[in-house]
Amino acid sequence: MGYQTLDVELLSGALGAVLHGPDLSAELSNQTFDEIHQAFLDYNVIFFRDQNLDPHQQIAFGRRFGPLAVYPFMEGLPDAPEAFEILKSENDTTNFGGAWHSDMTFVEQPPLGTMLYAMEVPARGGDTMFANTTLAYEALSDGMKQMLDGIVGVNSAALKRSGGRAKSFKKSTKMASKNMDRVDMEAEHPIVRTHPETGKKGLYVGRGHTARLKDMTEAESYPLIDFLADHCARPEFTCRFRWEAGSLALWDNRCAMHFAIDDYPGQRRRMRRLTIEGDTPV
Ligand code: SIN
Repeated sequence: MGYQTLDVELLSGALGAVLHGPDLSAELSNQTFDEIHQAFLDYNVIFFRDQNLDPHQQIAFGRRFGPLAVYPFMEGLPDAPEAFEILKSENDTTNFGGAWHSDMTFVEQPPLGTMLYAMEVPARGGDTMFANTTLAYEALSDGMKQMLDGIVGVNSAALKRSGGRAKSFKKSTKMASKNMDRVDMEAEHPIVRTHPETGKKGLYVGRGHTARLKDMTEAESYPLIDFLADHCARPEFTCRFRWEAGSLALWDNRCAMHFAIDDYPGQRRRMRRLTIEGDTPV
């Protein structure tokens, strides 16, 4: 579609577009919102620069896409519990989101999208990478696509393969975690899912959350999970976003994975995140 109210700057050949024009703190016209929504479907992850959003304005923009979903393991903001802050300060070693993943695949209805707003960023480093899991699926051989058809992933919140969620939050962090007694929550989803709005198939599997494949042992599951996770992260399926204070990203968890790069020791990075309710993956 042609965009009338947006100036679209593509970030890579695979996915990602910076949308210039809208002031997200203001009430958006239906036309502007429809174009933003279309760009979200076209580019898997969209970005805005030079925004000035308080939590309520960010929440209001998020709600244009649907009801908000609450992240179970982090305390929300006192006056805006739908959102929480991701903070890595100068002496922290915990890097939230530092592995390729799609958000909250361990719940029955994982969020369709995640919106991240940058408040403080390091002088350099702290970029986020994104991968287009539709392109990754389409690049597989017909034989592999047939084999994956019908395989179900068991997705766990425990992060067992990376040492455990509770353990990683005992490392240095000022972030307020909660519900650490619920880290064993699991949900089963097909490892190839069909996007409910575009109808395109994409991979829906990762090392972090896909604990095993249904009816298989961990030893049997890991080689296929690892192959698919590495395949999704091939450079030609990715883009990388350099944050500035006032940048906002909205990624589509149904067709994209992301990775927060931990390359800014001794510097501070503070972001505000919310998620938008999704449907049951099929
Ligand atoms: C996340 O996984 O939600 C964090 C991404 C980031 O901080 O760049």
